[in-house]
Amino acid sequence: MDKKELINSGKVKSVYNSTDDDKVIIEFRDDMTAGDGARKEVMANKGAYNAIISAKIFKVLEENGVETQFIELLEPNVMLAKKLEMIPIEVIVRNIATGSLVRKYPIADGTRLEPPIVQMDFKDDDYHDPMLNDSLIKALGIATQEEIEILTEKALKINEVLVKFFADAGIILVDFKVEFGKDMGGNILLGDEISPDGCRLWDSETLDMLDKELFRKGKDSEVMDAYVEVYNRIIPDSEKVI
Ligand code: C5P
Repeated sequence: MDKKELINSGKVKSVYNSTDDDKVIIEFRDDMTAGDGARKEVMANKGAYNAIISAKIFKVLEENGVETQFIELLEPNVMLAKKLEMIPIEVIVRNIATGSLVRKYPIADGTRLEPPIVQMDFKDDDYHDPMLNDSLIKALGIATQEEIEILTEKALKINEVLVKFFADAGIILVDFKVEFGKDMGGNILLGDEISPDGCRLWDSETLDMLDKELFRKGKDSEVMDAYVEVYNRIIPDSEKVI
């Protein structure tokens, strides 16, 4: 399938129109950013690792009844996906308190959160992704109450499936961010990506970090080894393409 014009170039992915009106082509680039894009480096093959990991996770979620925009991988770092009108909310699910939660609130790092916290942030770098609540979401015209409930329900379902999926690979799913969009029929589908860029993943035994937090902490030389470790643990040998 040929890429047509570029629709959107984000910090790490570029989205192109395809020859089908209802499908897009998403290229996962090798860029890695932190601090709302303030720091940026290129990491060889990072795009491919993230695309393959996301594709695997989307397939697992589909098998568990969560509809996603994923159709197929066209190349190791290029995904064919259903075209969505993205909802500008970052839905964050937290199973263990860490990161911005412990910086902003009096809760100890490492506290297990039962039930998990579902948080919604406004996806807008200019405003530094401020946290939303239901009335803000409605006042800003981002989503209706019914849609907020759908996003919450879907995020918790994704969490339930992925906690188990990662546990089977010896990984603790600490927290993650997902984004949703509406397809041409108005259905809300999971979009974007689920990869070590937007999840905190800890080794179950050692509690070593296996995600972008290493880059956020300046451990640039360790970050790709962590992504490759996640890839090796969750992608069966028969499905490995790099
Ligand atoms: O930084 P914070 O603790 O709020 O992050 C929570 C989770 O959301 C982490 O897994 C992080 O990777 C993800 N996240 C993200 N993109 C952002 C903010 C957070 O993927 N803009």
